[in-house]
Amino acid sequence: MTATVGRRESFNAAHQLYDPDLSDEENRRLFGKCANLHGHNYILEVVVAGEIDQASGYVLDLKLLSSVITRQVIRDVDHRNLNTDVPWLKGRIPTSENLAQAFWERLRSQLPGGGCRAVRVCERDTKRADE
Ligand code: NI
Repeated sequence: MTATVGRRESFNAAHQLYDPDLSDEENRRLFGKCANLHGHNYILEVVVAGEIDQASGYVLDLKLLSSVITRQVIRDVDHRNLNTDVPWLKGRIPTSENLAQAFWERLRSQLPGGGCRAVRVCERDTKRADE
């Protein structure tokens, strides 16, 4: 049987929902107040599925998962402006949905057996996006 385990990490970052191809007025209509630069306390949750190792009883050592999340994502995004400071987010409007997708791309190849099942990004506790 397979089991799933998850790890939750947090980071703080600023972002602005703004499409440079649109006018200020169109951006304001589409994104409202989120078109202005503002910050969030984000929660990033990564869920991994796999076989339970009979010797350790683990699917995956969660310390390993934590270090992969830190190296691939948190180190680059914590206390940053997501619109301007993170090269691998360039060209994406940093909605939670797009962040979840970008984080997924950076995490999936780094986890053993490709067992990354879900990446979830929450802004505070009000909004959630899954990839
Ligand atoms: Ni926001």
